[in-house]
Amino acid sequence: MAATLFTNIKQLVNVREQWPVLRGKELANLPCIDNAFLLIEEDTIVAYGAMNELAKSNRALPTETIDATGKIIMPTWCDSHTHLVFAASRENEFIDKLKGLSYAEIAARGGGILNSARKLNEASEDELFNLAWGRLQELTQLGTGAIEIKSGYGLTVAGELKMLRVIKKLRERSAVTIKATFLGAHTYPVEYKENHQGYIDLIINDMLPVIGREQLADYIDVFCETGFFSPEETALICKAGMQYGLKPKIHANQLNLSGGVQTGVALGAVSVDHLETMDDAAIKALAGAETIGTLLPTAAFFLRMPFQPARTLIDAGCAIALASDFNPGSSPSGNMNLVVNMSCIQMKMLPEEALNAATLNGAWAMECADKLGSISVGKKANLIITKPVPSLAYIPYSFGSNLIEQVMIEGQWAV
Ligand code: NIG
Ligand code: FE
Repeated sequence: MAATLFTNIKQLVNVREQWPVLRGKELANLPCIDNAFLLIEEDTIVAYGAMNELAKSNRALPTETIDATGKIIMPTWCDSHTHLVFAASRENEFIDKLKGLSYAEIAARGGGILNSARKLNEASEDELFNLAWGRLQELTQLGTGAIEIKSGYGLTVAGELKMLRVIKKLRERSAVTIKATFLGAHTYPVEYKENHQGYIDLIINDMLPVIGREQLADYIDVFCETGFFSPEETALICKAGMQYGLKPKIHANQLNLSGGVQTGVALGAVSVDHLETMDDAAIKALAGAETIGTLLPTAAFFLRMPFQPARTLIDAGCAIALASDFNPGSSPSGNMNLVVNMSCIQMKMLPEEALNAATLNGAWAMECADKLGSISVGKKANLIITKPVPSLAYIPYSFGSNLIEQVMIEGQWAV
């Protein structure tokens, strides 16, 4: 057993004895300690404080000391919404979009999710694993220490199970905390275009029982959207998933006022995600609920949608998380540093709000806040150590620079 002591940390960020989900004004409160120390034993945070409180005598274990002068140490990003497992990128559709086609038009021509589904069903489990593993390594280097990954590019029994088994294997082999979400209801496969009930039956009768039996998912997701799944269909599918212990975490209000937020709240969803298109009723429903609103600004950016109304949601008292939505169609980047930059620059979130939303509230949106998302005694040592930086606000301000010097995942150096 070994210990690591960080000394002279310029600022230790998101230090908490208690770590409730943060809503409304609470998001602006980011507790920090200047000129701090941090002690890790094995994979766990065991002590922290101001340098002048560092009692060297308390350490029984052989300790490596690391001088962090000028550097900020913060918890790793908790990215609670991704589609990390996919077979191929879709830059050809990107060109179509540059030429003027909309996301919905591309989807209607058999592109979009259906294009990804075709390729996914042709790929082997090993191919998919290797591609996803490479992406996960890249994201770890960018500071992501916990991630939720969805299925939803299979749309067949075999394809959906293949995706979930790839996620299971990633979870077994990586020190990154991984949560799996079943998104069979991502769109209707071509052969069920005119038979929506037939595909819903396939999800409920053929996919969910295997997923439940093999414990392949933690959550159930539905793309609740005009032209995709209605609020009624969303509720039906989520309730079927809940019978197998899967909690809802749904795609809501991305392209239209779909009723997804109200549907998610009524189901007691852990989170409703996207929220580009919100009205007063949706905001009120979210503000009055436990459900977290997860904003995905890089998807809004890539699709040239209006950004999510973060300020209005915070003012209304909502609990807000930030995530990347990493996927080949609407957010071909899983870089949470960029998500945080964009949240401040385009959605006017304060640096403190964005950092809380991308760490502690992200952990809550994956139900792993008991071990991740803040610097707290007993939590896992998942740390970002920055390069020397002038201040905390420099992190969202200097978009495009990589300010990460090292990343620790459960006490092991990942970078
Ligand atoms: O979260 N909106 C639905 N699903 C994804 C996009 C999927 C795709 O285009 O491949 C999203 O944006
Ligand atoms: Fe998504």
